[in-house]
Amino acid sequence: SRPLYSPDMISFTLPILLKFCLLSFSEKLLVLTVATEETDGFHRFIRSANYFNYTVKVLGMEETWKGGDVGRSIGGGQKVRLLKEAMEALADQEDLIILTVDSYDLIFAGGPEEILRKFQQANHKVLFAAEALIWPDKRLADKYPLVRSGKRYLNSGGIIGYAPYINRIVSQWNLHDNDDDQLFYTKIYVDPLQRQTLNMTLDHKCQIFQNLNGAVDEVLLKFGTDRVRVRNTVYDSLPVVIHGNGNTKMYLNYLGNYVPNAWNYEHGCRDCDDDVVDLSQLKYPNVLVGVFIEQPTPFLPEFFQRLLTMDYPKDKLKLFVHNNEVYHEKHIQKFWEENRNAFNSFKVVGPEENLSQGEARNMGMDLCRKDATCNYYFSMDSDVMLTNRQTLKLLIEQNRKIIGPLVTRHGKLWSNFWGALSLDGYYARSEDYVDIVQRKRVGVWNIPYMAHVYLVKGSVLRNEMKERNYFVLEKLDPDMALCRNARELGIFMYITNRHDFGRLISTANYNISHYNNDLWQIFENPADWREKYIHQNYTRIFTENYLEEPCPDVYWFPVFTEKACDELVEEMEHYGSWSGGKHEDKRIAGGYETVPTDDIHMKQIGFDKEWLHFIREFISPVTLKVFSGYYTKGYAIMNFVVKYTPERQAYLRPHHDSSTFTINIALNNKDRDFQGGGCRFHRYNCSIESPRKGWSFMHPGRLTHLHEGLPTTNGTRYIAVSFIDP
Ligand SMILES: *[C@@H]1O[C@H](CO)[C@@H](O)[C@H](O)[C@H]1NC(C)=O
Ligand SMILES: *[C@@H]1O[C@H](CO)[C@@H](O)[C@H](O)[C@H]1NC(C)=O
Ligand SMILES: *[C@@H]1O[C@H](CO)[C@@H](O)[C@H](O)[C@H]1NC(C)=O
Ligand SMILES: *[C@@H]1O[C@H](CO)[C@@H](O)[C@H](O)[C@H]1NC(C)=O
Ligand SMILES: *[C@@H]1O[C@H](CO)[C@@H](O)[C@H](O)[C@H]1NC(C)=O
Ligand SMILES: *[C@@H]1O[C@H](CO)[C@@H](O)[C@H](O)[C@H]1NC(C)=O
Ligand SMILES: *[C@@H]1O[C@H](CO)[C@@H](O)[C@H](O)[C@H]1NC(C)=O
Repeated sequence: SRPLYSPDMISFTLPILLKFCLLSFSEKLLVLTVATEETDGFHRFIRSANYFNYTVKVLGMEETWKGGDVGRSIGGGQKVRLLKEAMEALADQEDLIILTVDSYDLIFAGGPEEILRKFQQANHKVLFAAEALIWPDKRLADKYPLVRSGKRYLNSGGIIGYAPYINRIVSQWNLHDNDDDQLFYTKIYVDPLQRQTLNMTLDHKCQIFQNLNGAVDEVLLKFGTDRVRVRNTVYDSLPVVIHGNGNTKMYLNYLGNYVPNAWNYEHGCRDCDDDVVDLSQLKYPNVLVGVFIEQPTPFLPEFFQRLLTMDYPKDKLKLFVHNNEVYHEKHIQKFWEENRNAFNSFKVVGPEENLSQGEARNMGMDLCRKDATCNYYFSMDSDVMLTNRQTLKLLIEQNRKIIGPLVTRHGKLWSNFWGALSLDGYYARSEDYVDIVQRKRVGVWNIPYMAHVYLVKGSVLRNEMKERNYFVLEKLDPDMALCRNARELGIFMYITNRHDFGRLISTANYNISHYNNDLWQIFENPADWREKYIHQNYTRIFTENYLEEPCPDVYWFPVFTEKACDELVEEMEHYGSWSGGKHEDKRIAGGYETVPTDDIHMKQIGFDKEWLHFIREFISPVTLKVFSGYYTKGYAIMNFVVKYTPERQAYLRPHHDSSTFTINIALNNKDRDFQGGGCRFHRYNCSIESPRKGWSFMHPGRLTHLHEGLPTTNGTRYIAVSFIDP
């Protein structure tokens, strides 16, 4: 007799064959599917089949697909031809039940026992999947039997039946590989005689087969403690075979992030560690890092610094930078001069090349594609702040064709991926989007769109993605073009939120007409502003009482970084119009200053709003701590930087301030930048002669705290002063 199974069967093993002979009910089911390529969708199908222990035979692998582009037009006949050939050997297996399904866009949500039980309940020899839409020949609609409730039309993505009957259907095939399979089955089904003799019906109420086309609104995820299912809310059924037919592939991808056991509330991500690679056991792969600076971007020096301090051997990294902004040439020049030898190679394409964003991205990707030693292409936009130094390693270890780390706008729901697409291919919010962004659901997510930062395997660029242009397509943004191309190639794109990777900064409203423009970013990018400008030990004021009281009621605490001090001084010197310490002062109400300093007001450089915000965010909390019971309004009219130098004004005579309290931040270093200086409080005969750069004094302005600025004897001393709550 002929062997029941052909040797190319997946999971063909002697034990399985033995179990088969013992005739456990479930093992009479054989799944047949046609796949000519091992796409990502195919692997997902096999994973779900293996999870439920289906016996699957794959037909057509290594064959060239000649069945047409079934996504767009008719076709698929090759599937019937292959099935016909396979069924010849199985035709006389009367107890064998054949389940034939698509595989690229299909997952199992339940096991073989359940399918067999439901099939028995249907009480027919052959059962086809059903859907509400008729395809491909609408004229056949009238020939279908009426159904009182349920889906009326046949879909050939799923068929279950006794082997002899399936054989009698597919043996009728005598058409071409690119003829339509669904039309073929439909014609047999709508023929009343055949329908009766072959004892065929449709799964009208989605007991077994759920086609998603036209039915996305009918289904929901149903979370169990172990498995996740799809529930059809119209028929109250739990279909077993979930098919992303038509343009519902992205929705199937969403379901596949959970079903059958990928993620649930109890256990989180179940398959995140499948197929991972262990970098500690491996030579570090070569990575080409493509950096794209397409608009003026705040904190670019910090971006490059993070790149440099990434935990990855630099000799394995090549750098390609596309800079579209003349403004940033100085930053890149500086980084290049200091670090060009740190990397394996370093190539910059500047604004003079006048490349479009799409062209530049094509160029970066192609550099990796053409270089056989390039194992990965890591594309990063300059607005991505990777605060996790392990990011590149973690992405490589996850071992996907395309994967990005989740990055979000600080404190916002804005991120670098979309969980769903609208019909016209733009953003749509998926049910799980917010939970993923907020990391309430943690895992590796198959998504339809990602941007800003992602890793692509070099081998993918040299195989599935070997065309040289993926970024220029119609009028789409380059990233949308890339993602659409990947979707159409059936390449899954993933975003991982298994770790905190970093954030996306805002490039909106970045005014580059100042000298140190990042100082102005306190509103737009507060987290990056704080990291760049607020002293490392500032928070210790609150956690460890990290502050001093050198004179009664004079508090002294760290607030600014060296950079903040330097940039503020540079900004003032760049502006250059120091007041000269004269009594007449047009900048203030009344026009007369009794104790004038040589200064520039924050308002003069357009920094008053930002400065007041700084006071409210960073000074007010200190006030509350040291002057307990006093709630500052955080309001100040007089905010300025003072310059003391022996050549101009060296000191300030004793005075009160027109403030409830005053802050006075040292902006440079005694002994390095100047000599002398300091502050003396008369009532207490108390002087502070060694101010520390970046540290602020805070003291009451009137009555008790008559004070003077001690002479600066050499060099230039700068302080920033605010009279708060005047
Ligand atoms: C599949 O088979 C394995 C080994 O026999 C068994 O441990 C597992 O529980 C089965 N899976 C399901 C979903 O029945
Ligand atoms: C179809 O087959 C079932 C048994 O599988 C039988 O009970 C039923 O009567 C058949 N229906 C028709 C219309 O022949
Ligand atoms: C840059 O390219 C654009 C479009 O490709 C073109 O309109 C523009 O004139 C070019 N500019 C320069 C300076 O070459
Ligand atoms: C940018 O800053 C300059 C100088 O403060 C100011 O004159 C200009 O209006 C600002 N531009 C925008 C768009 O805010
Ligand atoms: C913060 O405090 C620690 C420990 O006192 C010190 O080592 C470090 O230098 C301080 N940081 C700065 C920026 O001064
Ligand atoms: C102020 O203190 C200095 C030393 O710190 C001392 O020499 C001086 O006599 C004091 N003056 C008064 C008025 O107490
Ligand atoms: C003043 O400072 C300069 C350098 O900043 C130094 O060379 C010089 O010796 C100093 N003069 C005095 C009198 O300390």
